[in-house]
Order: sequence, then structure tokens, then C-alpha cells
Amino acid sequence: MTTRRTMLGALVGAALLPTALRPLPAFAAGAPEPLKDIARRKGMRFGTAIGSGPTEFGNPAYRALVERECGLIVATNEMKWQAIEPSKGQLQFKAADTLLAWANEHGIAMRGHNLFWQPEKWLPHWVVQEKFGANVRQGVERLMREHVRAECEHFGKAIASWDVMNEAVDPADGKLRQNPLTRPFGTPVEQIDLAFRLAKEYAPHAQLVYNDYMRGDEGSAKHRAGVLQLLADLKKRGTPVDALGLQSHIGSWDESQDRGKADLLEWRKFLDEVSGMGYDLLITELDVNDRRLPADIAKRDAGVAAACRDYLDVCLSFPRLRDVLVWGMSDDISWLQTWDEAPRKDGLPMRPCPYDAKLQAKPMRQAIADAINAAPARA
Ligand code: G3I
Repeated sequence: MTTRRTMLGALVGAALLPTALRPLPAFAAGAPEPLKDIARRKGMRFGTAIGSGPTEFGNPAYRALVERECGLIVATNEMKWQAIEPSKGQLQFKAADTLLAWANEHGIAMRGHNLFWQPEKWLPHWVVQEKFGANVRQGVERLMREHVRAECEHFGKAIASWDVMNEAVDPADGKLRQNPLTRPFGTPVEQIDLAFRLAKEYAPHAQLVYNDYMRGDEGSAKHRAGVLQLLADLKKRGTPVDALGLQSHIGSWDESQDRGKADLLEWRKFLDEVSGMGYDLLITELDVNDRRLPADIAKRDAGVAAACRDYLDVCLSFPRLRDVLVWGMSDDISWLQTWDEAPRKDGLPMRPCPYDAKLQAKPMRQAIADAINAAPARA
């Protein structure tokens, strides 16, 4: 039996231990087991994207939530090329370094997102305007090398997993996107291959990831096919790609998404093919778009949680998948609040994350805990 005296003795004893050996203080009496601990027991990690601005890193309550729940973070925007090098040659790492130092201090691992992001609108403006000299291909190769070297050398071994290439497949037709960095190559796959080889050269320790937002529904069939084709082509070339990042912006995006379980069957087939090719998997940006769920909050949250659980059950049945990251912990800071391409028709704020705007856990948080608890332990 634990008496007040033995409890006090234990606490005083613990205070004398070196920091690394001290038991972690309970977050609050009766608080649920942190997601990072549930994940750790399964040989997995749970984490989130976090931005450096005032509503996330700058908000002590939000930061404390991430420290409690997460074993892994990724910077929402701070490691993107646009953020690191907004003008040619003007490197700025301060925001990313701040996040990394805080993560280190709290024993939280950090992923890198991203080295290349293929839609032209996400390249730095100066890259799009660059002339590249007489030999354009050589100029592009030089710029790609400088960029990968700058990021990978700066962060070094602190970043053990990089989204090397983000969203290279056009969901409209499944073809590879073109941009000023791909055009000088015979086919875009050559530029993608080079991106991974450069990442291997400058971050040989890191997991190298192709990251994209294909889903299981009919509207995403061409996207899935394009990603499979790309992964097969890269395999054939011997490109050093370790894993496919499943962005996992799930939920209702378009009218073709009414098939529920049928879509999950397609999704399982897709993951079977990817892992059959020898690629690892990770969930990099999970959230649930609730645009077609009822306005009633209890019903809406239940629907989001159910969709999340069904999706995670399929994904986590693949032992190659060890990391689950959400794209933000609380509804208020979600990118979906301001993204106008798939809003709610009633204009209500979206509820796509595991916590609400008051940082109270929602059913989605329980769904994640339950799914990880039910997943087979990783070796
Ligand atoms: O920081 C500026 C601020 O100074 C300015 O006042 C404000 C005015 O618009 O813009 C701020 O920058 C915005 C930034 O988010 C920070 O809020 C950018 O305009 C905006 O484009 C940027 O959006 C991000 C988007 O990627 C583009 O980089 C979202 O936060 C981020 O959630 C989103 O994340 C992407 C992943 O990287 C890839 N997968 C899809 C995912 C969601 O779109």
C-alpha cells in the first residue's frame, strides 16, 4: 500500500536522482496514458506537426500538450525551401533551429519536411525566376545540390527522416508534375532520382521519404496509380528511397467518397503493393476533414473519430508502419480552417484534430489511442 509518507519519500528520493533517471511527473491525476507512451510500447512513435508561431510553439499550453503526447515532431513550414531560403543565398534557419532545440531538450525526435515540393507554387519565387545560365540542366543540378547540402549539413544527424520529395504526382491524371526544376531533365523521374541521391549523399544516416496525399477513394484512383508507377520506376533505377509518407488528409473531400469500407479495401490494396515493393510506410500528416458530417458537435466528433479509427486500423496492420504524425494537435490551428478548396457548406469551424480549441481531448484522440493499442507490436 502506498502511504503519504512512502510517496513523499519516493518523491524526495527521485529529486536526488540525475535528471535522466527521474520518473516523469504525472501530467494530471487521472490523465490518460500519453499517446507517445502507448506508441512506444508498440515499437512505434506518435507525433505532430508544429508551427513556430504564437498559436502553437508560442503558446505554452499548446507546447505542454505536445511535450506530453508526442515523441516526434515535424515543422509545419519552417524547414521548407521557401522558409529556409526566401531570397537566393539568404539562408535563415532560426525558426527551425528553435523548434529543434526545444525538441532535443524534451527528448522529442524531429523529422524534416521537405527538401523538394513539386507544385510550382510552393517553390521559392526566386527559383521559378532563375535563368540557370547556358547549360540549364547543369545549373539546376548545381542548385539542387546546394540546397540539399545547405539543409542536410545544417541539421546533420538531428534529423533522422527527411521528406525528400513532396507531391510529385498530379492527382488529376497520375502523371508526374513539371516545374522549372524538372523541365531540363528528359523526364521528371530523373530529377526525382537526383533529389534522393543528393539526400543520400548529404544525409546518409536518414530515412528518405517520398511524401504524397493519395487516398483510398475513387476520386484518388489516378493519384494512387501514379504514385505506384513512380515508386516502381524509382525501384528499377535503384533510387535510395526508404519509405512512402502517407499524408493522410482523410475524410470527405469530394462527392465520390461515399463508399466507406470499399474505399478502405482499395487503400489496403494500395498499401499492400507499396510494402510489397519493399518500401516502409509512415503516416505524416493525419487529419480528418469533417465537411460532410452533421453540424452537431457530438455527432461530428464521433464521425471524425470513427473515420480515423477505421483508417488507422488498416494502416497500422502493416508492421512496416511505425510513425503516426497528425498535422496539428488542435482544431483551431488546423490548416483546414483557412483552406477554401473543401470547406464546410455551413461555414462552421472544422473539427479535424484530436484536441479542440480549448485543448480538450476529443473522441479522435481516443480513436488514435485505441488504434495504436490494438495494433500488433513492431519487432
Ligand atoms: O508566415 C506568414 C505570415 O507572415 C503572413 O502574414 C501570412 C499571410 O498569409 O502568411 C504566413 O505564411 C503562411 C504560412 O502557412 C504560415 O501560416 C503562408 O501564407 C501559407 O501558405 C502557409 O501554408 C502552409 C502550406 O502548407 C504551404 O506551405 C500551411 O500552414 C501548412 O499547413 C501546409 O502544409 C501542407 C504540407 O506542407 C504538405 N501537405 C499538405 C499540407 C496542407 O496543405
